[in-house]
Amino acid sequence: MCGIIGYIGHREAYGILIKGLKRLEYRGYDSAGIALSNNDYRVYKCKGKVSDLEEQTKDKDIKGRIGIGHTRWATHGEPTDNNAHPHKSMNGKFVIIHNGIIENYNKLKNSLENEGYQFESETDTEVLANLIEFYYLNNRKNGKSFSPEDAVRAALNMVVGAYGLVILCEDYPDQMIAARKGSPLVIGIGKSEYFIASDATPIVEFTDSVIYLNDDDIAVLDDNGLSLRNLKNIAQTPDIHKIKLEVSEIEKNGFDHYMLKEIYEQPRAIRDTYRGRLNFNSKFLRLGGLHNVFQQLTEANRIIIIACGTSWHSGIVGEYLFEEFTRISTEVEYASEFRYRNPVINKGDIVIAISQSGETADTLAAIQLAKKAGAIVIGICNVVGSSIARETVAGVFTHAGPEIGVASTKAFTTQITVLTMMAMSIGLANKKLAKDEFTVLIDELYAIPEKIEKILTKSEKIKKIAIEISNATNSLYLGRGYLFPVALEGALKLKEISYIHAEGYPAAEMKHGPIALIDEKMPVIVLATEDKSYEKIVSNIQEVKARKGVIIAIVTEGDTTIKQMADYVIEVPKTDFALAPLLTVIPLQLLSYYIAVERGCNVDQPRNLAKSVTVE
Ligand code: AGP
Ligand code: GLU
Repeated sequence: MCGIIGYIGHREAYGILIKGLKRLEYRGYDSAGIALSNNDYRVYKCKGKVSDLEEQTKDKDIKGRIGIGHTRWATHGEPTDNNAHPHKSMNGKFVIIHNGIIENYNKLKNSLENEGYQFESETDTEVLANLIEFYYLNNRKNGKSFSPEDAVRAALNMVVGAYGLVILCEDYPDQMIAARKGSPLVIGIGKSEYFIASDATPIVEFTDSVIYLNDDDIAVLDDNGLSLRNLKNIAQTPDIHKIKLEVSEIEKNGFDHYMLKEIYEQPRAIRDTYRGRLNFNSKFLRLGGLHNVFQQLTEANRIIIIACGTSWHSGIVGEYLFEEFTRISTEVEYASEFRYRNPVINKGDIVIAISQSGETADTLAAIQLAKKAGAIVIGICNVVGSSIARETVAGVFTHAGPEIGVASTKAFTTQITVLTMMAMSIGLANKKLAKDEFTVLIDELYAIPEKIEKILTKSEKIKKIAIEISNATNSLYLGRGYLFPVALEGALKLKEISYIHAEGYPAAEMKHGPIALIDEKMPVIVLATEDKSYEKIVSNIQEVKARKGVIIAIVTEGDTTIKQMADYVIEVPKTDFALAPLLTVIPLQLLSYYIAVERGCNVDQPRNLAKSVTVE
């Protein structure tokens, strides 16, 4: 995780770095720091947020046209001033910022200590700073020419782990070096200036030309421009991409929090997800990004979905959709479990990786494993140009726009929209989904954004319920069929932003254990829209009621039965049950949001979390 930014050019770097770090803060917010080169290096860093750093530095008149900045999600060493990046090497020759983990840092640290190196922090990053300096000073001892780039290459060849790095060297004050393995880095190309960042958000207002660094790349930026070579010192050809990202897409637009803005963006986001892919008049559906694998998809014997967190929940919805519409056997795996056991992957198996950020380290590693085993790996990502999008042979972008709030909202609903379209198109092609059912689904999908708009108008009512239950310490979310993954997602949303313990369960499983927890203080959120198991869920509600649990039921508009039993009822419009997750999750997102606000929690940056989990 961690956010990285660098600037080299003709402007004052300070403002660019601070603003850029604010954009990247969703990636980590344990500490922040900057270093600027202006004849010498000045490092300013502190525990806490970018705003704390800004407060401490704003009167200092910090000058420099080359600078680096970092916002940290701690892996090695607590969030303290000392452990904050940038880290200087012991003799002050190098200053570096790092995103990732140096796995063999202990061994490297011991060797450096034997060479007389001392350390100020507990981080793995400082070890790397010193290792680079060690190679640099040692090789230049006898007048040998050995550049900072050579030193970086020598050090990185010793490293096991992941890194996105930006490095400055005191002896070369007009130069900046960047390197990547595992953690993302984007270089923005301006007019006689370069920007480096973990993602494109700090770059968009300056340029739309970017290069996504590949693993093992080392880039050197200076007056001569950009030179790109790899760890083996072989020249690489930079691949320049044009990005389409508006600054307005990454700002709050009048909402109190990014999360709320993103919840409200869902109707627009879903429309963007199906735009150009679904034609509602001609009932035509085509996912261009799957063109080269579509035949294999229709003939597949097995689909494996891999993902983490919220994306894993949408994967479960995907499993139900694929099995229902295509009759292809589908399983959903946590990427982190899949990659570390010995999974059976057959040649021709379809592996679908789902990831909002496209950078989740476990998902990326699981993709690599599946590719090696001969699977056809497809991506469903939000971030264009992300590592997962580039690592997969085919895929579908969700087009949700940047998701900044750490709690995923629009990513979930747009991923499900993509999975629905995939299952529908495969089902139609392999003749497991009848044409008339397909047509009905197209019409239902078309109506979803408007139905979400309707649910959003109930936010005041949801806020009132949220305030009533905001003192709870535990809660249970129950759902059946397509709504079981929604129960999981509702529970995850609540725990991650309000710190209330929440569990999602298949409603029928309640009696096998969790029912023991229910008492008059326990809110039980039941997803109870109409479908074939409606009667069963009504019985589950009765079971909770009999134990005095507080029931908040999400029901279909016009439901009168549950209204009589539940303490609170939130209505959602009727839709096909397969599409119900797209509607029923909305009140759950709002409920968690308002509970977290009521409890005074930091909604967009919940404790201990980060948006993009690039560590394993
Ligand atoms: C969601 O609210 C979480 N913050 C988290 O579980 C997230 O979904 C997970 O880390 C996966 O991220 P990805 O979709 O970017 O791969
Ligand atoms: N390992 C580094 C640290 O703890 C970077 C952490 C990260 O990228 O998340 O400071």
